[in-house]
Amino acid sequence: MCLTIPGKILEIKEGKATVKSSRETTQIDLGLVFGAKKGDWILYATNRAVKVISEQDAKEIIELLEDNYHPVNIDNLPKKFVDVMEKIRNLNIEIRDLKGKQRGNKGGTKGDERESGGILKGDIEYLLSLTDKDCLETLYAEANVLRKSRIDDFVCIHGIIEFSNYCKNNCLYCGIRKDQNIQRYRMFKDEIVETAVNAVDDEGYKLLVLQSGEDEFYTDEDLIEIIKTIKNKARVFVFLSVGERSAEFYKKAFKAGASGSLMRFETSNKKLYEKMRPDKTLDLRIKSLEEQKKSGYYMASGSLIGLPGQTLEDIADDILMIRKLGVPMISSGPFLPAKGTPLYEKGIHKGFKGGTQGLIELFLKYIAICRFVMPDVKIPVTTALETLDPESGRHRALLAGANALMFNLTPDRYCEKYQIYDNKYREREKVWQKYGLFKGEESYQMLEQRMNSLF
Ligand code: 5AD
Ligand code: SF4
Repeated sequence: MCLTIPGKILEIKEGKATVKSSRETTQIDLGLVFGAKKGDWILYATNRAVKVISEQDAKEIIELLEDNYHPVNIDNLPKKFVDVMEKIRNLNIEIRDLKGKQRGNKGGTKGDERESGGILKGDIEYLLSLTDKDCLETLYAEANVLRKSRIDDFVCIHGIIEFSNYCKNNCLYCGIRKDQNIQRYRMFKDEIVETAVNAVDDEGYKLLVLQSGEDEFYTDEDLIEIIKTIKNKARVFVFLSVGERSAEFYKKAFKAGASGSLMRFETSNKKLYEKMRPDKTLDLRIKSLEEQKKSGYYMASGSLIGLPGQTLEDIADDILMIRKLGVPMISSGPFLPAKGTPLYEKGIHKGFKGGTQGLIELFLKYIAICRFVMPDVKIPVTTALETLDPESGRHRALLAGANALMFNLTPDRYCEKYQIYDNKYREREKVWQKYGLFKGEESYQMLEQRMNSLF
């Protein structure tokens, strides 16, 4: 499911409409949108109309994606900031040139060199450390412009079904770790299938993530059966987020119809990793990620931001690790303390520099830098950010370079038990869904094309 853009019809001629939106005046195909007339507002994606909407609805969606930056006087920005931004701009021009070149000529080496070496870790650390309001505004605005120029205003909407909160692991940060004294649940196989199929049939979802703790109650065969049944009953991309399982499992699940996998490496700092995830190693995690990628999965990975003991250098390394892994989608989020976990007990969360606002800003900077360093990557806004800033987290993240949203589809009776962190934000307002929602083949094909183009 992709968020569409509202536009006003200026003229209709032979099934084609000239439409004016906030970013362009363009010609689109009216397709099956019968009865649209001059002056109507419609939703459109690429060059096809999706449906007629009211002026009120159009205004609502325009507001969601509208940037409200105040003008910044470039002359007052620190020289170092201007230099780094200049470098990033040139880097992106190079990447774009390289893409153009590759279409005609596969051997463009100059761009390759720039792509790997143009931005330095020190530059990333510097950007992560920014606190000056004008610098931050400029940083986000640049990332937003880049998002718009590379992937437009089409925002993809994915659904996540958290089907079990059992986990055999004891990650220090996690609210469903093994030692947590919480009520546990497991969804039945047919309940999972039903939730998935309903999300597709009733709401138009095209991409669903099946997530759980590392729960061996579900055998490899169980998961494969679930994937197969969903794929038989609904036209939808199924992504897994079930943790470390064998390479064989991932191969079989891919064959059964799973297309993607979400697995964070959590932190690129080995020492911190081992402290945070007892009995686990970063090397094994990366190995699993790479095996899945090799098996053909569309991978999403990333890290936790704001972990106790994590430095800006670590976060810069996280960004570089995502780029090195070459994943097409980022899955990262701010760390939020969960009651009953060792990190909460020690009160470490209270010591985060800058408090909640500081953490939100740090995460927005991280998104913007990811957009600079990986201009075409998909960046979903994570629920953790929405928990920190329920009012405008989503909006702010999109305006800092994110381009996808994740909605929680876990049935209400289970949802509140999946508390990876406290007060997990539960999206109730349907405003985004309203605009992203359109059923039928077109959005599925758009997504398919986009995914295929990445391989
Ligand atoms: N705060 C934020 N994210 C968390 N996760 C686990 N615990 C927390 C927390 N306290 C994230 C991990 C994991 C994902 C499923 O949830 O990054 O990969
Ligand atoms: Fe389990 Fe994942 Fe939580 Fe770790 S982060 S305890 S693996 S659910």
